Amino acid sequence: MQDADILIINASELVTCAGPVTGRIGDDLGKLDIIRDGDVAITGGRIVAVGPTDALLSAWRGKETIDAGHRLVSPGFVDAHSHLLFGGDRCCEYEGKVKGRILGANLETGINATIQATRRADDRTLVEQALSDLDEALLYGTTTLEAKTGYGLSRDHELRLLRLTSGLEHEVDILPTFLGAHVLPDEYRNRRDEYVQLVIDMLPDVLPYTRSCDVACDPACFTAAECLRIGRHARELGMTLRVHADQTGDAGGAAVAAALGAASADHLDQSSAEGLRAMAAAGTVGIFFPGVTFHMLEMVPPLTEDGIGAAEKPYMPQSVRRALQAGVVCAISADFNPGSCPSISMQMMMQMAMRLFRLSYAEVWNMSTLNPAVSLGLAADRGSLEPGKRADVLIWNEIDHRRAVNRFGSNRVDTVMKSGRIVVR
Ligand code: NIG
Ligand code: FE
Repeated sequence: MQDADILIINASELVTCAGPVTGRIGDDLGKLDIIRDGDVAITGGRIVAVGPTDALLSAWRGKETIDAGHRLVSPGFVDAHSHLLFGGDRCCEYEGKVKGRILGANLETGINATIQATRRADDRTLVEQALSDLDEALLYGTTTLEAKTGYGLSRDHELRLLRLTSGLEHEVDILPTFLGAHVLPDEYRNRRDEYVQLVIDMLPDVLPYTRSCDVACDPACFTAAECLRIGRHARELGMTLRVHADQTGDAGGAAVAAALGAASADHLDQSSAEGLRAMAAAGTVGIFFPGVTFHMLEMVPPLTEDGIGAAEKPYMPQSVRRALQAGVVCAISADFNPGSCPSISMQMMMQMAMRLFRLSYAEVWNMSTLNPAVSLGLAADRGSLEPGKRADVLIWNEIDHRRAVNRFGSNRVDTVMKSGRIVVR
């Protein structure tokens, strides 16, 4: 008999989401590792064994036993893309969008409005809001969250956001990313080169806070050449790249991400087939946002003059399927932000991804756990329930992994364990 700190016993299904540390692709993405009537053994905050109840109980003795009560047990969600710190909200513009008065994603105007609100907000307000949003993320099952700056866009304000993000104390693990190249700030209109140079000059100063740098390669944000310039400087400093790519049009963002050897390229709505193939070859993870598709009404036909809407049938985003077919490691994240996705619930994202992207149960589970962990370089440490990995575990009020996705709109997570410690019950 071996001793463990904790045994979680009696899971109806132990959805381990186990897979290669390079992530699941192709047909393999549609396979989900499930142990029926499963147990997990945990010591020192890490998983030491998983297996069927009989086998595990005959080999392991726990100081503490948690009975899952014949319910579903899974890894915590890994959310690999958020804009956690921002001031205000964008409720005003949203009605205009729904009613057809504001067209498209409105990135430049919208982001600049949030920049003003964020600069005006004091530290305490930003931190309190972020902690409350993190509470919500955790309740819905997120145990790791990447968090970008990008609403400061001056040296002082970007460094302030990095300092505040790094100082957040919360059960959710937070990984800050510098997004100085989010959009051109209003005060630099007609001075693009100056702003790009400012971002490059800021890079050495962000290193104490993060080694992760994001650039937005989009017709509404920065060009491929600008992103390559910033990205190459960041890489020379040893930073890992992430790219907001081709959300409102094909700016060559997927190819830029591949050329930079970026860890991820995110959005990819309008990316070219060559760009996606280059990503697959470079091992750049593609991250998709069902919450953005939903909130930006990208599954709803555009409004016509009569206020009814185009008669053709609603179109479904094809970008995910194209990326999967190109052999890209694909993941889902929330992209929590006030403009394109004011929701931080990965549970909701998984549920919407199945519907909006026409994915299978297995695909959405792997894309919310293991594959986003790959994009953060953390797949050896988390993203699945496997021996050696961190014990970030969810116990659900469901008996079956399909029901956890089939239902939507209410929280089906009952218990959240972070690194072997129960943080939500
Ligand atoms: O990730 N280029 C970036 N776009 C953001 C939008 C953020 C916002 O609207 O404030 C995104 O979706
Ligand atoms: Fe984003």
